[in-house]
Amino acid sequence: MLADATVHDGDAGQFVPRPYVVVGRREEAADVVTLALEPTEGAMPPFRHGQFNMVTSFGRGEIAVSMSNAPGAPGPMEHSIRRVGAVSEALCAAPVGSLVGIRGPFGTSWGIDDVEDGADVVVLAGGIGLAPLRGAIRDLVARQEEGRGRVFVLAGARSPDQILFHDDLRAWQRHGVHVGISVDVAAPGWKGVVGVVTALLPRAPFEVTRSMALLCGPEIMMRFGGRALVDRGVDPWRIRVSLERNMQCGIGLCGHCQLGPLLVCRDGPIVRYGGLADVLFMERNR
Ligand SMILES: Cc1cc2nc3c(=O)[nH]c(=O)nc-3n(C[C@H](O)[C@H](O)[C@H](O)COP(=O)(O)OP(=O)(O)OC[C@H]3O[C@@H](n4cnc5c(N)ncnc54)[C@H](O)[C@@H]3O)c2cc1C
Ligand code: FES
Repeated sequence: MLADATVHDGDAGQFVPRPYVVVGRREEAADVVTLALEPTEGAMPPFRHGQFNMVTSFGRGEIAVSMSNAPGAPGPMEHSIRRVGAVSEALCAAPVGSLVGIRGPFGTSWGIDDVEDGADVVVLAGGIGLAPLRGAIRDLVARQEEGRGRVFVLAGARSPDQILFHDDLRAWQRHGVHVGISVDVAAPGWKGVVGVVTALLPRAPFEVTRSMALLCGPEIMMRFGGRALVDRGVDPWRIRVSLERNMQCGIGLCGHCQLGPLLVCRDGPIVRYGGLADVLFMERNR
């Protein structure tokens, strides 16, 4: 099976954006903002770890953004958005009290509820890739506290000022989680690792047998990260990667997000690395 499940329940909120109000905004880094959102009318159905919404900036357009909080967590739904173009820029600038549109939830999940007790989980994130993993990590930390298996969080950023979710990283560490951080380019005072995020893997003492890995970030990072994990002995079918493609409909109708045999909005974004590694990372690297 390529993906774990798809979510298409015929709900009208999958076709028509529901109005959500911005009830909070937090600057995570120079170009990343987390928006806290609450529905003004009916809320969308519950989401699962790693799923995404199509988020509308009215008058600008609609883009795919993952939920960055955990399903069922108290408080508003959160989206952490990196400013890269017209729509993400407008969303990052959305003030408290303004309205955005939400369609979703869409796509497959990280599937962390399936992890057997005792298995370690390795999380490898690059840049904004930590956002779609944040909710899963929160629940994996709770699982570790119950003695059901450890979690190793390895996060890479371009530079120290690009490191996201400082408070969470510190809190996870306080809860006994192995947290490794690397930066591509150091700054004065940086005492941590300088290099690509995969350089953190040899320092992470996870138990390879039965371990599971979750990867999200630039495709080049997932490609090398997946390969490094397999070389270490991790079963490629137990490695899950989150794919990114240009999304339009989000519901498997328009074909914009096609990648080999997959429609990423429907069969992904989270798929198993095993059996698909070549196809997954072929197109952009040709
Ligand atoms: C399933 C899924 C989940 C996603 N989750 C998130 C999320 O949680 N947070 C988030 O910030 N983004 C997320 N994205 C990416 C987001 O959808 C894009 O960044 C967005 O579509 C950009 O739209 P835009 O109109 O702002 O920029 P565009 O005008 O579309 O792009 C502007 C320029 O930036 C480049 N660009 C576009 N996207 C990226 C990118 N991701 N990285 C680097 N350059 C890019 C384009 O090639 C173009 O040159 C997700 C995408 C998918 C498919
Ligand atoms: S975005 Fe339309 S088919 Fe995937």
